Amino acid sequence: MTELNSPTELPRTGPAAFQVRQATPEDNAALLALDRQCVVAAATPVGFDRSPDFFARSRPYAHWRAYVAEDDTGLIGVGAMALKPVLVGGRSVEAAYFYDLRVAPSSRRLGVAKAVGDAIRAYTHALRPAVAYSLVMEGNVASLTFVQGRGSRPMRLCWLSLIPVEGIAAADPSRLKVLDTSELASALHLARAAHPDHDLFPFPDVSSVQDRFCRLDGSGFEGLYGWEEGGSLAGCFGVWDYSPIMRMRILQARGEWSWAEGRDLHLVFLTPLGFRDTRGLAEVVRLTAARLRRSPAPGVARVLAFTHDQADSAYAELDQFRPIRMGFTLFGLAVGGEGAPSLGSRPVFVDPADL
Ligand SMILES: CC(C)(COP(=O)(O)OP(=O)(O)OC[C@H]1O[C@@H](n2cnc3c(N)ncnc32)[C@H](O)[C@@H]1OP(=O)(O)O)[C@@H](O)C(=O)NCCC(=O)NCCS
Repeated sequence: MTELNSPTELPRTGPAAFQVRQATPEDNAALLALDRQCVVAAATPVGFDRSPDFFARSRPYAHWRAYVAEDDTGLIGVGAMALKPVLVGGRSVEAAYFYDLRVAPSSRRLGVAKAVGDAIRAYTHALRPAVAYSLVMEGNVASLTFVQGRGSRPMRLCWLSLIPVEGIAAADPSRLKVLDTSELASALHLARAAHPDHDLFPFPDVSSVQDRFCRLDGSGFEGLYGWEEGGSLAGCFGVWDYSPIMRMRILQARGEWSWAEGRDLHLVFLTPLGFRDTRGLAEVVRLTAARLRRSPAPGVARVLAFTHDQADSAYAELDQFRPIRMGFTLFGLAVGGEGAPSLGSRPVFVDPADL
């Protein structure tokens, strides 16, 4: 499937003088500028720097499409969707994920997000996914009101748990080994066992893991690591330094965030992540810290980032590292017909690529 097709002009939407069309690579500079204006006004306000490539955030997905809104001043809005294989209720299905919705502050409450959302929805329906979902940060009133006003329903509460690497007592890394492709099936088995019956698990088979690795090549993916106990794999984690794609700034860095004042946060995701028991999860934290123990550039804080369902008790093991937690709600949108699988009753796996 192509990732960026030729632009398709859509009819003018709504009373305001703007139009919606498919994004093209030529929109990159304007989208980076738009993104910089769009602070996410959540419980913890955050700003993002996505330079040099706004579309890099979409490349982990096998198929995605972005739409932009423009008026005679330039680009005023953007939104995107990705189609991804996931497990829901143990079945491998296609999910649509909606993300990257942004409207320039001077063009808000004019129906721009609605028009972009309509274009994304029309395209998504044609792809016939089984489920559709989005993630909204806690306290982001504009976005929470927007998605619920358009029929999405809150399904699960999730966390982004952040642990600054500099504060972690690192483990002895000598027992860590680089896993090669012959060990992918064992790693996937472990990742699946650590997240039993989680909906939206994004790796239904080994080839989906390989596909993700290929797409992350050149986007900060540093390799897959693991360690053995009793002759078999006891834990595994892929190290994905997300900073080539995005850097994050906490805009009011007070209280528990004071260490982040004036610093760019470089998130390191661990994916795929597998452990036999929760002690193994704590070991992942210490071993990753050992691997990352180079000092980052001045003004940078390197942070381990875990994404997980709040009801997933395994991740309570992270409490000993005193993570800072940012809350998200996972919203589901009914797109499948009768018999379509439904989200909400089981914990979800929160794919780091979706953040
Ligand atoms: C969220 C966002 C995309 C909305 O864009 P927008 O073009 O202003 O939204 P629309 O004009 O299409 O609004 C449609 C409806 O959404 C709701 N809505 C939008 N902004 C709202 C706000 N600030 N407060 C309450 N409801 C709001 C309203 O129901 C609105 O309908 P109404 O204006 O008739 O009352 C925009 O505020 C934004 O870019 N925020 C910063 C980036 C961000 O948080 N993105 C979402 C990440 S999950």
